[in-house]
Amino acid sequence: MNKTNTKIQIKNLHKAFNGKAVLSGINLSVAKGESLVIIGPSGTGKSVLIKNILGLIKPDQGKIYIDSIETTHLSESERQPFYTQMGMLFQGGALFDSLSVWENISFGLMESQKMPEDVAREEAISLLKAVGLSSKIADHSPADLSGGMQKRVSLARAVATKPKIMFFDEPTTGLDPIMAETINHLIIDNVKKLGATAVTITHDIHSASMIADRIAMLYDGKIVWEGTKAEFEKTKDPYILQMKNRSSKGPIGN
Ligand SMILES: Nc1ncnc2c1ncn2[C@@H]1O[C@H](COP(=O)(O)OP(=O)(O)OP(=O)(O)O)[C@@H](O)[C@H]1O
Ligand SMILES: [Mg+2]
Repeated sequence: MNKTNTKIQIKNLHKAFNGKAVLSGINLSVAKGESLVIIGPSGTGKSVLIKNILGLIKPDQGKIYIDSIETTHLSESERQPFYTQMGMLFQGGALFDSLSVWENISFGLMESQKMPEDVAREEAISLLKAVGLSSKIADHSPADLSGGMQKRVSLARAVATKPKIMFFDEPTTGLDPIMAETINHLIIDNVKKLGATAVTITHDIHSASMIADRIAMLYDGKIVWEGTKAEFEKTKDPYILQMKNRSSKGPIGN
């Protein structure tokens, strides 16, 4: 991969919790404007991997470059410019129940971009409409919303600041198939419209094929397969086949 074209590069990343290795030597690159999807069984460290890139978890070993700058040793203040170019949809939604829906969406706009409140509210309402929600819920608490609505609010929040790098952790899990399809399209539209670099985690193979330019599979602390969407569709790799076939037989143990 051409160095100037690389947005995120991970080299030999290790992370253990209480002596139990979760990531044991991850090497992965994401090109500028590329949409990478990470798949893999539950509990293999997909969310931990994203949190390392975001700087929310400190790796035990290894390097993470964003725009060719090594980030694992940066202080909070040095990390600030990286945070402001990232948007994240957390697996659990992670909306603030103490804030209204519109305040959740506009949080980054008001905090880091210092957008005035009235402008930020207007922006939040237009983002609500963009994810197919009514402006009537703007002043509600996220706790009042269904799971699918919360995911959409989380998506609106993740893209509000027009980040250059977007992370989506299980954006369609727990949604009905029609809502999941809507979310897939919203992700594709937002990523392409903003020319952003995206890293998405999903269990949903259909969603992976829709969103991805490239797919990587995480298992047992390592990337066990990596390829383009076209390669993903054709591969006879036993890990990928087992995920696609939802089979209990194969290299992935229970
Ligand atoms: N802060 C933490 N402290 C201790 N252990 C952790 C912490 N965060 C994650 N783990 C452990 O790391 C492992 C990987 O967790 P992670 O959430 O990354 O899995 P995942 O691949 O995202 O799974 P899922 O598909 O279910 O979301 C799990 O065993 C989890 O318990
Ligand atoms: Mg996870």
